[in-house]
This record gives sequence, structure tokens and C-alpha cells, in this order.
Amino acid sequence: MSGEVLRLENVVAGYEEKAVIKGVSLSVREGEKVVIMGPSGSGKSTLLKTAVLLVRPWSGRVVLDGEDLTSGRADLRRARAKTGFVFQSYNLFPHMKVIDNVALPLRLVKGYSKEAARRKALEMLKLVGLGDCGEKYPLQLSGGQQQRVAIARALAMDPIILFLDEPTSALDPELKAEVLETLRDVAHRGIAMVVVTHELDFAREVADRVVIMEDGVIVEEGDASLLWSPKTERARRFLRVIGTASAPT
Ligand SMILES: Nc1ncnc2c1ncn2[C@@H]1O[C@H](COP(=O)(O)OP(=O)(O)OP(=O)(O)O)[C@@H](O)[C@H]1O
Ligand SMILES: [Mg+2]
Repeated sequence: MSGEVLRLENVVAGYEEKAVIKGVSLSVREGEKVVIMGPSGSGKSTLLKTAVLLVRPWSGRVVLDGEDLTSGRADLRRARAKTGFVFQSYNLFPHMKVIDNVALPLRLVKGYSKEAARRKALEMLKLVGLGDCGEKYPLQLSGGQQQRVAIARALAMDPIILFLDEPTSALDPELKAEVLETLRDVAHRGIAMVVVTHELDFAREVADRVVIMEDGVIVEEGDASLLWSPKTERARRFLRVIGTASAPT
């Protein structure tokens, strides 16, 4: 299991009585980029949440950095601190300056001093091209810039794996492009990433692996070439909707 940062083993999970993830196994290696696609309601967001036990699996195992999070003995707070999460809505604190949005979790979760946290926050803002925006408030930034702040905040924690759930789907095309550019840079930094996105060019460029989900299961998984030549009818059907796969032969 050397080099593996995350492993889901036959995970079943859901809400109240309703199963949403119906037996998913997935392994992510150090630095690996996995893109997850699938129709609305297929369980993509829920799957990301089960990976950090924000949704607790009914059965199966979740192993993060060699630690079984489903054992009941795991320190989930400490485990989650090894991960970063970026959502479709940026979830920044509007009443706090941009730099403080990035610095605060460093102080609360990682125990940084005020000065060290600000230094690191500024470094991360520079990394996403927003070095001059630290003293602004989130609402003074565009949606794309706000999302890049959210990315900086996640990266500041030095995660071993970064989860991104449709990070660009709320953005206009122009802003989308700048966030995708930032994510390409992030991808080159060697952090493992699991990204839910339907951005095909981005997926083709960065994905080591593409996973297609439908109705709580993985229907197909492979390298980025599956975007153009899926083997299963279910994956083909989905990809035809988002406009890549050739018509079935
Ligand atoms: N907090 C919740 N409580 C109850 N049901 C939920 C909850 N979150 C999601 N669901 C249900 O679980 C199923 C899967 O939802 P999920 O958000 O994981 O899908 P998704 O693939 O991310 O969809 P989308 O592409 O629309 O984001 C859906 O039927 C949804 O209604
Ligand atoms: Mg979702």
C-alpha cells in the first residue's frame, strides 16, 4: 500500500434510510489526480464527503494516509486536517479580510502564531495570483477570485489530498477559465486531487484517472481516454449528454 493516500473499500453510505453510495471502491495514490463525473444525484458529492467521514459509511472502510477512519478509534479532526476541501460555493467569511480567511484555519487547526499564519496566507495568495488582494474583503472580489481564495485556504493546510466539488460550476466562462488555470498550477504541485467536474479539457489535461458514477456506483474507470471511448453503455450515455463520446457503434 505504499504511496496510497486514500482508499475506499466497498463503501455504502446514505442519508437516513436511503442508500446513495452503493458499494464504491477507489484508491488514490500520492500525487494522483482523479476526476469524478456523473449525472446529478449520482452521489459524487456524497462520495467526497464519505472520504473524510462528513457522511459516515454504513459499511465498508475508508483508509486515509494508512489510518482506518471507519474503525471508530480514529481522530477525525486530526485526519481531516490532512485534507483540503473546495466547494462550489466558496464559503469565505464575508466579514473577514481575504488574508484572514486564509490565515484563520492555520491558527485554529495547525496552531500557527498570528504572524506565521499571515505569512503563510500571503504566500498562498501569491500562489493563486492574488498576492495584492489580502487586505480586501471577499465581496470586493469576483467569483473566480473568491474561489481562488478558497483554493489558497485549502492549500495553506499542506493537505496530502485535495477534494474539489464542482469548483467552477457557479462561475461565468471567463472566471471559470482563470480558476481552471489556477487548478492546473495546483495539479503540478504534486498534491493528490479528487475533483468532481464536467470540464472536459481540464479533465483531459490533468486527470490520471477518470471515474464515471451513476446511481451510487462506479460504472466505468480508466485513464482520460475513456472520455472519448467509453466501454460501458452507461458511461457512453452520460458522456454523450455532456458532449464527448462518439455515437455507439
Ligand atoms: N443531506 C442530505 N440529506 C438527504 N439526502 C441527500 C443529502 N445530500 C444529498 N442527498 C441525496 O443523495 C443523492 C446524491 O446526492 P449527491 O449530492 O451526492 O449527488 P451529486 O452526484 O453530487 O449531484 P449533483 O451533480 O447535483 O451535485 C441525491 O438523491 C440527493 O438528493
Ligand atoms: Mg454534487
